[in-house]
Amino acid sequence: MGVKLSRYLLCLIACGACAQTLPDGPGKETFQSVCSRCHTPDAVIGKQGSKQWWQSKVTEMLQEDTDVTESDVDTIVAYLAKNFPIVRINVNKARALDLETGLELTAKESEAIVQYREAKGNFKTLDDLKKVPGLDAVKIESKKDLLEF
Ligand code: HEC
Repeated sequence: MGVKLSRYLLCLIACGACAQTLPDGPGKETFQSVCSRCHTPDAVIGKQGSKQWWQSKVTEMLQEDTDVTESDVDTIVAYLAKNFPIVRINVNKARALDLETGLELTAKESEAIVQYREAKGNFKTLDDLKKVPGLDAVKIESKKDLLEF
């Protein structure tokens, strides 16, 4: 828990500037009450996941919380999957800022992608993208499900 908590604090500091709010919709209240027990529900803002991904995340988060009913879990997963879906990023069209926020890159990395694209033309595959100088190949590989060419 000690390590988990400090990672959470780091995340809080990093996200301190994003003043986004949670979207309204069915399940919001259940989500907010259950997912506020350990941290603010804002932890989900900026995350993207398929229904399966959210299902596993919610299961992971609630493993010690045996009093949450299965139907509440379903409600929460449905709310998250609907409001925080995977948004694919077209690496040939996206602006630097969209690359930065959508793929969690640094400003420098996203600008390097745009510059490379302008100089060499469109990326066709993930391997093309990995040629961008200064881009972390492991990091970009981990985002491959979000990429569109
Ligand atoms: C038992 C305490 C606890 C509850 C309840 C809880 N969380 Fe968490 N959550 C944590 C901790 C601790 C962290 C930070 C450490 C980590 O990343 O594992 C965290 C981090 C997160 C993160 C960001 C990091 C990541 O792994 O992506 C998300 C998203 C998240 N929680 C979602 C949820 C959702 C959705 C719920 C409600 C279903 C929830 N949490 C309920 C303890 C909890």
